[in-house]
Amino acid sequence: MARRDIALNINKTRYELKVSTTSSLAEILREQIGLTGTKVMCNEGECGACTVILDGKPALSCMMLAVDCEGQDILTIEGLSDPLNGKIHPLQEVFIQRSGMQCGVCTPGMILTAACLLEENPDPTEDEVREGLSGNLCRCGNYQRITECVLEGAKIMRTGGRDGK
Ligand code: FES
Ligand code: FES
Repeated sequence: MARRDIALNINKTRYELKVSTTSSLAEILREQIGLTGTKVMCNEGECGACTVILDGKPALSCMMLAVDCEGQDILTIEGLSDPLNGKIHPLQEVFIQRSGMQCGVCTPGMILTAACLLEENPDPTEDEVREGLSGNLCRCGNYQRITECVLEGAKIMRTGGRDGK
C-alpha cells in the first residue's frame, strides 16, 4: 500500500504524518492521531457523524482522503473548546445540560455542523435549524432535543448567557 509523508493542520496544531494514500481523513484522525471525538457511523457519506470543519465549512471526513487535506484548516470536536481558558463551546455545554445526546455517536457532527450554521445565521428559526442539520442523522431519533439545544445554544451565544443572564 502506498504511503506518503504529509502535514495536516488540525485544531491549530501541525501534525507531520506518514499515511496510506487511501486512508480517509476520519481514519487518520481516529486511528493515527487519536482524535476519537470524530465518529464514523455509515462510512459512506450518508449520516454526517464524521463531520469536521474544513476551512470554515462542514465536511464529511469519511469521504475525504487525508492526503487531499494538506494545507487546509481542520477543526474537530476536540478543537471547539477554548484551549486558553479550558471552556467548552456553548453548544457543547447545552448538549450536556439538556440531554442533547443519547448514544452520542451523532453528537460531534451535529455540534460542528450547528456551529457553522450559527456562524452564518446567529438567530435561526426552528425550521432553519432542522434544515441546517438535515444532513446529520441521529439513529436514536433525538431530533427534537437536538434542535432545542441548538436554539438554546444560539441564544446563549447571542446574549452571552442563559436567558440573557
Ligand atoms: S460516517 Fe461519514 S457520513 Fe456517515
Ligand atoms: S444520539 Fe445516538 S445517534 Fe444521535
